[in-house]
Amino acid sequence: MMPELVEMVPSHFDRVIKIERAVFPSPWKRRDFEFARNRKNGFCRVVMVECEIVGYVVGFLIDREFHLANLAIAPDLQQRGLGRKTIEAVFDLLETKARVVSLEVRMSNWVAIDLYKKMGFETIAIRKAYYTDPREDALVMLKPLNTRLSDWVSQVFEV
Ligand SMILES: CC(C)(COP(=O)(O)OP(=O)(O)OC[C@H]1O[C@@H](n2cnc3c(N)ncnc32)[C@H](O)[C@@H]1OP(=O)(O)O)[C@@H](O)C(=O)NCCC(=O)NCCS
Repeated sequence: MMPELVEMVPSHFDRVIKIERAVFPSPWKRRDFEFARNRKNGFCRVVMVECEIVGYVVGFLIDREFHLANLAIAPDLQQRGLGRKTIEAVFDLLETKARVVSLEVRMSNWVAIDLYKKMGFETIAIRKAYYTDPREDALVMLKPLNTRLSDWVSQVFEV
């Protein structure tokens, strides 16, 4: 299955929110997707397979950092490589626009953590009680694009 990333438009919201509610303990609301869509630096795509929405990915480009804010694949279509292919497609789209991809993930979400590690993300910090409902720590993960994390860090901080 080869997913296609398509710009998210308001007519996609019902399906997106249905998936969101099915996969997250404290789901985003419609206004969160609207906010991301209306932001100049927002990146909102639905993941389509054979004209069906099977997931979505949302992020923000801040200077040369792409913050991956939300990613989900519909429960009945998980574990078929769609999550991995979606992230790879995001990396391709970013090309030279971003130097690093950042994200937060619930400490207990080992499925996602496993996937991010396989895609080259490294854990750089823990944010205590970052999540509510239920309260939980977040791992902060970074993936440098076209460079190593240590090289990226030394360039940013001029160490
Ligand atoms: C995280 C998520 C997007 C992954 O999507 P997916 O399409 O199921 O992932 P893939 O099929 O591409 O799997 C890639 C890797 O993820 C891991 N993975 C995915 N599902 C897994 C499962 N049920 N058990 C163990 N590992 C799993 C594996 O490391 C897998 O690698 P492999 O194919 O070499 O075994 C999906 O599980 C999801 O939507 N989860 C709920 C929302 C969420 O947690 N989003 C991330 C928030 S930060």
